Amino acid sequence: MANDRWRGPPASREANNCLNDIDNRGLNVSQGDEFTMKLLTATMKMCDVIHSNYLLIPVVNRFGIRLGFGEKTVKTVCKECGIDVEFFLTIINVFSNENYFPQRRLQTFNVLMIVEYLRKTHSYYIETQVPLIERLIKELIHHSPKSNSSLKLVKKFFLEYKKELLAHLKREESVTFPYVERVYNAYRKHRSGLKSGKQVQYSMQVYEKEHDDVDDKLYDLQNILIKYISGGFDEPLCNAIIFELFRLEQDIKDHTRIEDNILRPVVQEMEESLRAQAA
Ligand SMILES: [Fe+2]
Ligand SMILES: [Fe+2]
Repeated sequence: MANDRWRGPPASREANNCLNDIDNRGLNVSQGDEFTMKLLTATMKMCDVIHSNYLLIPVVNRFGIRLGFGEKTVKTVCKECGIDVEFFLTIINVFSNENYFPQRRLQTFNVLMIVEYLRKTHSYYIETQVPLIERLIKELIHHSPKSNSSLKLVKKFFLEYKKELLAHLKREESVTFPYVERVYNAYRKHRSGLKSGKQVQYSMQVYEKEHDDVDDKLYDLQNILIKYISGGFDEPLCNAIIFELFRLEQDIKDHTRIEDNILRPVVQEMEESLRAQAA
């Protein structure tokens, strides 16, 4: 479990203060969770955040924060980069703690900020993580005996997955997110933006129906490598691919959770309000 990974500061007194602080701000941390979940806080050093969970590096990067924090705290780094510290903390805690999902709290953030984060996550998949896995698979094939046909299956399966993932991301980028922005703008201006044009044909209900899990095939791909790979192959490269597939899977699960449990209900509420105004 992700919680087990926690090794660094804060020390117990600081951790307790942080939890009190979090509780005072009304986050959904239940009584039982408080003692098992050590949440990352604004007063922690950014380097300690990374030491607590190195998988946060790409998450931190997608906020535009680059390595080389020195001794700066999370609060200072966020301030320097113009980032909402509460939103940043909520996202990194959601990512780091499987059992932490402060739905009410997340729903209070500006929907455009959530969309911006989701867009940056898409860019990370498209520009970094997917090309990295593809490159590793190419290397694996290149460094293994030509006769190994099971590796060709890995490549074929990955390319199919990549196609499906990119189509999913493109649909959200070109239809869902622009729609969310239109609904938000209409809602903010207290006028009905749902009456005209394309918006009638699309809604969060449509999104709910069409929004499929993009991590199912990743599980199958992991299994091809874990269970069925045979013949001669470069073991360290194979392990690196499996590791990167797990990393992508975790990131996508977290991303989908935000889309399904935060973005959709928040926008649906705006839609209802706009429909009521128009009636
Ligand atoms: Fe997405
Ligand atoms: Fe999605």
